[in-house]
Amino acid sequence: MGLVIKALKYLLLLQISLTFIYTNEISSASPVTPPSPTKMSRKLVAVQGMVYCKSCKYSGIDTLLGASPLQGATVKMACNNTKKGVTMETKTDKNGYFFMLAPKKLTTYAFHTCRAWPTKPGPAGAKGTCTVLSQLNNGTTGAMLKPSKSVKINEHDYVLFSVGPFAFEPTCTS
Ligand SMILES: *[C@@H]1O[C@H](CO)[C@@H](O)[C@H](O)[C@H]1NC(C)=O
Ligand SMILES: *[C@@H]1O[C@H](CO)[C@@H](O)[C@H](O)[C@H]1NC(C)=O
Repeated sequence: MGLVIKALKYLLLLQISLTFIYTNEISSASPVTPPSPTKMSRKLVAVQGMVYCKSCKYSGIDTLLGASPLQGATVKMACNNTKKGVTMETKTDKNGYFFMLAPKKLTTYAFHTCRAWPTKPGPAGAKGTCTVLSQLNNGTTGAMLKPSKSVKINEHDYVLFSVGPFAFEPTCTS
């Protein structure tokens, strides 16, 4: 009697482990398996941010109180993802906002090799009103990209990264 129960237990265990192996094989082969958080899938890189002209009231102080959006400022991104790397530039719109899609050879695996920073103030600089780049949020040394969310752009999976906000110092006559 005891032997029969032992044999039954053994069979049951065997079946459980076989079922386990079977379901594991199915799930790893399935194309709809979500990526595990520890192994984030490779995506493309998009970067956004803002550039401001600081208020005369706070010239030289790291704050955006009273600052106004800077249109036409150039923002550069440089990455050491490969020996040659990737560099690109874009300009802010009338709201001081910029957005860029990095070339496809740059993926999220290498986002930490990138820095972004403003290079030129644009028309406001030409008018002499906002000329000197502020170190706010690493504007002069280059800011690291902070992941904000996943987005789909033209059928491609991107991660949208944020940098800044950056600022230029106003030239103030008092
Ligand atoms: C990329 O490499 C250049 C040249 O070696 C270096 O000056 C720069 O700081 C590097 N950038 C990053 C983000 O590591
Ligand atoms: C700014 O620079 C400092 C010093 O290099 C660094 O520790 C920090 O992570 C940087 N932050 C960003 C957002 O780039």
